[in-house]
Amino acid sequence: MTWPAMSGFLTIEELMYRTGLEESLIRFYESEYAQYLPEPVLRGDGLFFDEAAVDAFLKVHEIHHRRQAEADGEAESRGYARVIAVTSGKGGVGKSNLALNLAIACQRLGRMALVLDADLGMANIHLLAGIQPAYSLKDLTTNDLPPGELINQGPEGIGIVAGGSGVVALADSTPEERRRLLAALEGMERHADLIIVDTGAGMGAGVRDFLLAADEVLFVLTPDITSLADAYGLLKALCARDFSRPLYSVVNMASNLRQAAEVARRFSNCGQQFLGVSIANIGYILKDSAVGAAIARRTPYLVFDPTAKVSRNTIAVAQALLAGDHDRPRLNSAFKRYQNMIRGRCP
Ligand SMILES: Nc1ncnc2c1ncn2[C@@H]1O[C@H](COP(=O)(O)OP(=O)(O)O)[C@@H](O)[C@H]1O
Ligand SMILES: [Mg+2]
Repeated sequence: MTWPAMSGFLTIEELMYRTGLEESLIRFYESEYAQYLPEPVLRGDGLFFDEAAVDAFLKVHEIHHRRQAEADGEAESRGYARVIAVTSGKGGVGKSNLALNLAIACQRLGRMALVLDADLGMANIHLLAGIQPAYSLKDLTTNDLPPGELINQGPEGIGIVAGGSGVVALADSTPEERRRLLAALEGMERHADLIIVDTGAGMGAGVRDFLLAADEVLFVLTPDITSLADAYGLLKALCARDFSRPLYSVVNMASNLRQAAEVARRFSNCGQQFLGVSIANIGYILKDSAVGAAIARRTPYLVFDPTAKVSRNTIAVAQALLAGDHDRPRLNSAFKRYQNMIRGRCP
């Protein structure tokens, strides 16, 4: 192989001028599309380019655009994700563990699942999943980050959007911050089939937004007597805001199935009798030492011990959640609907 005379080379500036492409884009194409660039184009130390580079980079530019359009088209035809908020009246009932493992179970059942850590006080999904996120929800209020940057790759291919303490509640944020956050969340709905939102406990300003925006709300209950009373308080607050989409319950940390069924029945009866709402129970999760052991290893329990009681129970919850879930694209965005609602225009 012979090198052409120096006069035959283009500098990066000349290449930029001839193609009209920014240097960053040229460098990106060099690394991502090397297979489309003829060898002489890539030769040398990256400072000089062969004359043929002009056409080669323009061709790659076209290929890149076509690919992006295809990806956008795919997202378009997939529609919006189901947004399910996991919540509870009081903390420490197992919401975060359930949200993360439920996402993995749904992913195993063929859905593209994403967990959004919206617990503004105690964001810990990334710790439970053993990942170190580059960005968190907090960055959304200050930067226009594309969904691809924000969604971290989690165990078994689930997406994780990490939370950050200090994320301002939408209610307390400036219109600009709110616009950014909701627009980004709406964008995320195009990148998943299912978004599981791990919220904080109670009806504080930060939680409220996510509950009111969600397509469905899942209450995590425990046999603890205060858990039921607090969950009822939250349900009442939600009903007072005219939430009228599906409501579910899961009983966690149950000693046995009889006890779990009794807790679910009492919650559902209270909802029906005093608030006129139906709450469908979608499963029970037994108390299991595998949860603590998995947390200690920063591994979701479904991955740590797939056959543990808690893992089998969680898979059953995922199956119940996905039963009746159709393949047709969902045309409504939860966060768009919420944006319209807080603007005072009811959808
Ligand atoms: N099914 C279970 N069996 C045993 N312990 C559990 C179970 N679910 C959760 N826990 C324990 O409860 C604690 C709180 O769980 P977490 O998911 O952080 O709750 P929350 O998000 O509601 O505050 C964890 O330390 C975990 O070990
Ligand atoms: Mg939590």
